[in-house]
Amino acid sequence: MPTVTEALSLMDYGPAPESTAAAMDWLKDRTFGHFIDGRFTAPGDTFATFNPATGAELAQVTQGTEADIATAVKAARKAAPGWARLPGHTRARYLYALARLLQKRERLFAVLESLDNGKPIRESRDIDVPLAVRHFYHHAGWAELIADEFPGMRPHGVCGQIIPWNFPLLMLAWKIAPALAAGNTVVLKPAEQTPLTALLFAELCIEAGLPRGVVNIVTGDGRTGAALVAAEVDKIAFTGSTEIGRAIRQATAGSGKALTLELGGKSPFIVFAEADLDAAVEGVVDAIWFNQGEVCCAGSRILVQESIAERFTRRLKARMETLRLGDPLDKSTDIGAVVDDVQLQRIRGIVDQAVAQGAVLHQAPIPNGPGSFCPPGLLTDLGAANIAMTEEIFGPVVSLMTFRTPDEAVQLANNTRYGLAASIWSENITTALDIAAQVKAGVVWINGTNMFDANAPFGGMRESGFGREGAREGMLAYLTTDEATGKDRKPVPLPSASPGGATGEEIDRTRKLYIGGAQKRPDGGASYSVPGAQVPLGNRKDIRNAVEAAHKAGGWSRVTGHNRAQVLYFLAENLAAHPIGDAKEHALAVERAFYWAAWADKYDGRVHATQSAHVTLTLKEPFGVMGIVAPEEAPLLGLVSTVLPAIAMGNRVVVVPSQSNPVPALDLFQVLDTSDVPGGVVNIVTGPRGELADTLAKHDDVAALWVFADPATCTNAERQAAGNLKPVWTETRTRDWTGPAGQSRSFLRHAVQVKTVWVPFGA
Ligand code: NAI
Ligand code: MG
Repeated sequence: MPTVTEALSLMDYGPAPESTAAAMDWLKDRTFGHFIDGRFTAPGDTFATFNPATGAELAQVTQGTEADIATAVKAARKAAPGWARLPGHTRARYLYALARLLQKRERLFAVLESLDNGKPIRESRDIDVPLAVRHFYHHAGWAELIADEFPGMRPHGVCGQIIPWNFPLLMLAWKIAPALAAGNTVVLKPAEQTPLTALLFAELCIEAGLPRGVVNIVTGDGRTGAALVAAEVDKIAFTGSTEIGRAIRQATAGSGKALTLELGGKSPFIVFAEADLDAAVEGVVDAIWFNQGEVCCAGSRILVQESIAERFTRRLKARMETLRLGDPLDKSTDIGAVVDDVQLQRIRGIVDQAVAQGAVLHQAPIPNGPGSFCPPGLLTDLGAANIAMTEEIFGPVVSLMTFRTPDEAVQLANNTRYGLAASIWSENITTALDIAAQVKAGVVWINGTNMFDANAPFGGMRESGFGREGAREGMLAYLTTDEATGKDRKPVPLPSASPGGATGEEIDRTRKLYIGGAQKRPDGGASYSVPGAQVPLGNRKDIRNAVEAAHKAGGWSRVTGHNRAQVLYFLAENLAAHPIGDAKEHALAVERAFYWAAWADKYDGRVHATQSAHVTLTLKEPFGVMGIVAPEEAPLLGLVSTVLPAIAMGNRVVVVPSQSNPVPALDLFQVLDTSDVPGGVVNIVTGPRGELADTLAKHDDVAALWVFADPATCTNAERQAAGNLKPVWTETRTRDWTGPAGQSRSFLRHAVQVKTVWVPFGA
């Protein structure tokens, strides 16, 4: 007779399959058209969507054409004014109805999601669908409160939304709920691998009595997505790969379409020696083995402190071996199927390369078909340059590296072009928060990972994209203002260079650039004339020098808001004592300096109501180094109105002032010098605006860019910014710098990026 312990070790899981009957019934012989203008269209050319766990075809869906997209956009356009005009309360009721209907069909949605995507039913049932429901409820609330909470803002109009296959229904909810709450209408394109829950959702729209054309769903692959990007929409919201995000950034440049991008990641998972190791091991399970690792914010780079690395790795391997790979519909499956064979081959390809580059792989063999299964894996013995440390694998394989000191942990964590998420494990709150403040990531989880809530902003920094989804921040991405109501800005003709320095006297009379807190001759030595002065003709090299100087002034981003306010008040006083440029502009500029000084310590983050026993914080962080192409039309006031909010929030800036009248900007150096503004915080480069803006847009060390210029300059800046995917705020029409539009909240919003920090508590 075996002992109890022996008996337990002999026990295995019995099969616990979830029934697929209702889902298969819904799918029976289905060939889907699109959902346009409140009804399903007749199918066009179709393709199959498969169950990746079996390879079986589930349904045929239509490959959306340009014409289909045009019809859908037209329907959305027609519905837009009526939907936007509805009282927030009425829109709230529709969103509430959608939430209720979704909740009623939870089981069907969960099963369908697992069938189409391959994810374990436990995850679709307990995570994807409940979070989607929560998203609709939360945004019903925002619709209700919109007039009170977002005064002066209006919806964009028609939003094109493109989503990936890893969380099909949840990503639909993240896109549709805020768009509708804000009063937009939408055309959504689901991923070609996983269109089914979106099509089921379309039925809920009918059932909820949603006005026709408010939600349109067009299926198809990347070509359909590209057609949507090119269509007459007012905004594009995209979640997917960085590569396609970059292409969309280029394609939308100059179109006036608003854009938010939620892209890839290579998120660090940092384990300190004092961490609760068992909890951290369990954390890895949720970080990388959740959803087969097909998670944009997956903790895919484990950084573990050297002193505990061996112990941690041992426990991690032991835990990995207990994970159950298999039928996604079985309730005791931990890891289901990868979305399709293409993705499986992609995962294998990167892992093989990692091994060829010297990594050691710990993984059970990949089973031979049917179905696309990838067992959980761990890569060790990696160098920092190994492909598995730099490339998103998007599969259940994690890389592990060690570090010695907290500084080294931060350095490794930030040694990536991405900045989506980070997970920090330490029982020492001081260490955890210190590291949270230093990592470049839009979301930071302390002693936890992959925590989400509709009321917690989610989104990335750097090449993980820009814009936030969820909470108030997410609503802002679906609203806009009409502050720039003037005429289209005209291009400024190229200045004609004079070699300069012909006589010693002339050199003295030529004004200088202001870089790193000192007056600098331009790199090319040339100047150009404006009425009453010879001014420096800055070039690309000068911009690069200015960016370098701004980088060195990092201390400014770390001082308190109070300290920055003090400096700005001092600046305001000194500006008052220094008449510069036009008298009226000068007087307003002084007022504006006081105004932005006032804000320096008041644009607060928040504590969000999310889950119990969690403090979820949002911090408003400066970007670091920003480029500003100040408006041509208000040489002093426009400069002060843009530079000061940016530095008030802790950024350092490289500013290109008015080209035809840069003298007030160049005169400002005296005020900056006497006001304790540290060298490098404000750098002023005069010269050909188009070329200087282009250099700022291309520069990888410029984290955000504002361009108040003519359409061609703005278009080019947006296109070039696709390089490091910096957010660009362009404005081709003039604003009234003398009135309220000259000091609106928009300047603050565009001067910071939000970092969401989750701090769970409890013994
Ligand atoms: P993808 O970025 O190509 O697909 C995402 C969505 O964009 C799909 O709906 C697709 O049809 C659409 N799309 C494709 N080309 C487009 C274009 N030119 N214009 C507009 N829309 C377009 O990602 P894919 O190929 O499915 O996966 C490749 C890799 O991308 C993955 O291995 C993973 O590394 C990454 N990825 C990241 C995601 C994230 O959430 N950050 C989600 C999906 C993939
Ligand atoms: Mg599928």
